[in-house]
Amino acid sequence: MEKREFARRRKRLMDIAGHGGIVIQPTAPERIRNRDVYYPFRPDSDFYYLTGFPEPEAVLVLVPDRPQGECILFCRERDDEAESWHGRRAGLEGACELYGADDAFPITDLDDILPGLIENKERIYFTMGRYADFDQRLVSWLNRVTSKGRAGIHAPDQFVSLGHVVHEMRLFKSSQELKAMRRAASIAAAAHRRAMAACKSGMREYQIEAELLHSFMQQGARSPAYPSIVGGGANSCILHYTENSDVLKDGDLLLIDAGAEYDSYASDITRTFPVSGEYTTEQRQIYEIVLEAQLAAIAEVRPGNTWNEPHEAAIEVITRGLIDIGILKGRLRKLIDEEAYKPYYPHKTGHWLGMDVHDVGDYKLHDEWRVFEPGMVTTVEPGLYLAATLKDLGKQWWNIGVRIEDDVLVTETGHEILTIEAPKSVEAVEAAMRERSAA
Ligand code: GLY
Ligand code: MN
Ligand code: MN
Repeated sequence: MEKREFARRRKRLMDIAGHGGIVIQPTAPERIRNRDVYYPFRPDSDFYYLTGFPEPEAVLVLVPDRPQGECILFCRERDDEAESWHGRRAGLEGACELYGADDAFPITDLDDILPGLIENKERIYFTMGRYADFDQRLVSWLNRVTSKGRAGIHAPDQFVSLGHVVHEMRLFKSSQELKAMRRAASIAAAAHRRAMAACKSGMREYQIEAELLHSFMQQGARSPAYPSIVGGGANSCILHYTENSDVLKDGDLLLIDAGAEYDSYASDITRTFPVSGEYTTEQRQIYEIVLEAQLAAIAEVRPGNTWNEPHEAAIEVITRGLIDIGILKGRLRKLIDEEAYKPYYPHKTGHWLGMDVHDVGDYKLHDEWRVFEPGMVTTVEPGLYLAATLKDLGKQWWNIGVRIEDDVLVTETGHEILTIEAPKSVEAVEAAMRERSAA
């Protein structure tokens, strides 16, 4: 991502905040995994969207019209000794030169400097409730400013939800963002192909997960966008199964929901394929219903349609399919109205996708489903989960869990499937797996 892109985003935000506004956005805290071992650090998405600054312990402050500089970054100072242990730092100079801040201060001076920046402002743009410790600090800074009332200094009296403003910006992807998302999608598609080519009866689910992670990293995606779901047999019916520890058997379906994070953008792909390389008759019947539902849903992704239309298309195909194979009995419309599909298809058909896998952005505006506009990216991911524990379900359907998920960009004229490189039709999946036996 270019430095200019971050500057453009900050400028837009400052235009919204206006004179008298101040924007305060901390990055995420580092989190301990155990004792003195930390989880890999991942910046807060809103902070990173506005700065591109990858280090922990940093706070962005935007003060529109501040004569000494509008964009202030608080961050760690350079420190040769600390850097020789823990890695390089941009330091105050780097914050300005590399990341475009007008002014940079040591993060250790935050408590001293921030109250002064808040003085006499009218509005604070801040996301309350995300980091409890930081909320407390902000309250203490405000109290300090309020206590100076007799000196003629006033504290802001309006709080505006910063998240809401930034999330509306993040919902619409720029061409540079789409470049990263296309790459994240392409990397994940290749990883799914690799998983199909590696899968053999007798392997553990985590060995397939290892293939995915290997492929992500080899292609420059240093992390999955979320813990990979690799569920064979009965595990394919557990929506967010991540134990990934069971043995795969011929006759099982394998559901893989795995996406890569590239340049801090997520992809999110699900494919479901037979461990043996060929779907059984029943597996194929269910797969074809989900696939038809997914294609019908994707066809609804276009400007002017509302966010719920893909879901409505999917539940219609799924309900009809369940009637056709005798799992549901009754009239289509009535069954849809009664949500008779819910025991088999309990989730929605998609979510926004971006820096976060379940990305930000409102799904409704004024209580109405949002209308698709170019630049939005959504997943389309219907499924059917025929768990053996479901009441009155014929044994031939047991443990068939199928989800098919692609990432879809709304374009001016319709849509573009970003994850098109992942094999999807029965023929394409079986062909990808045949290559495996030839190898
Ligand atoms: N991977 C989580 C989801 O598909 O929503
Ligand atoms: Mn998803
Ligand atoms: Mn997914």
